[in-house]
Amino acid sequence: MTRTVYLNGDYLPEDEAKVSVFDRSFLMADGVYEVTSVLGGKLIDFNGHLVRLERSLNELDMEKPEAFDELLEIHRKLVELNDIEDGLIYLQVSRGSAGDRDFAFPDPELVKPTLVLFTQNKPGLADSPAAQAGIKIISIEDIRWGRRDIKTVQLLYPSMGKMMAKKAGCDDAWMVEDGAVTEGTSNNAYIVKGGKIITRHLSTDILHGITRAAVLRFAREAQMEVEERAFTIEEAQDADEAFITSASSFVMPVVEIDGKPLGDGAPGSVALRLREIYLDESRKVAI
Ligand code: PDD
Repeated sequence: MTRTVYLNGDYLPEDEAKVSVFDRSFLMADGVYEVTSVLGGKLIDFNGHLVRLERSLNELDMEKPEAFDELLEIHRKLVELNDIEDGLIYLQVSRGSAGDRDFAFPDPELVKPTLVLFTQNKPGLADSPAAQAGIKIISIEDIRWGRRDIKTVQLLYPSMGKMMAKKAGCDDAWMVEDGAVTEGTSNNAYIVKGGKIITRHLSTDILHGITRAAVLRFAREAQMEVEERAFTIEEAQDADEAFITSASSFVMPVVEIDGKPLGDGAPGSVALRLREIYLDESRKVAI
């Protein structure tokens, strides 16, 4: 089946959807994005992703695409057209194509944003074998720019981080700045010590994960103790357990950091419980 994608108002076969070579996301990484998961044909945490998208656009003085108010409908239509039971929807807004290369932003009256959405079919996304086994991570230096709270398409360093992890026989990397873990290459990072869940506080240093917000809410509702503060790799290696969260991995246990197994080297009970709660509760309110 050929995938149907959305581009600026049109639903098109993927090989017919074309964006200009002058598009600013291509030339300048001048674009923002969101990834929303689909479980049982329904969207998980859709409103959170929409609110963050609007914030990213505002922070970069980027116009809202004309179809902003129709985004729920567009997501749903792509799920239907592509017959997605479980998977992901990727959305990208760029500042558009000014028909040439120029560092200055184009006049928003003349140049409209480019809006692209496509689906990724991932049957059984919530039953991933990685969640049973847990993942291994390495630590790397965080050399990204200073506005990581904006979800831009500048993903070269996170991509390099994944490759460094792969080369080391691991699954992902946690980034470290001034001695403390910021976040994973495409996820938020957590440790658990003495039953307490510790994750870095919100600031411009990390992306304000939509899954993070939901998981911390569920944890507090379940009377688990949560502390939002920075932690070091040494503290993480000494923790009882660790995990990551994101729209694509939900809650994923971490079992090894820089070659050191955590606890007994198996996924921890807090991570597994939070994964179950997150999946159950999110499915209930999926739209
Ligand atoms: N990444 N931190 C970073 C750097 C991220 O790229 C992501 C998401 C997160 C988690 O955010 P959320 O819970 O809202 O998905 C944290 C997406 C999944 C991606 O780039 O594919």
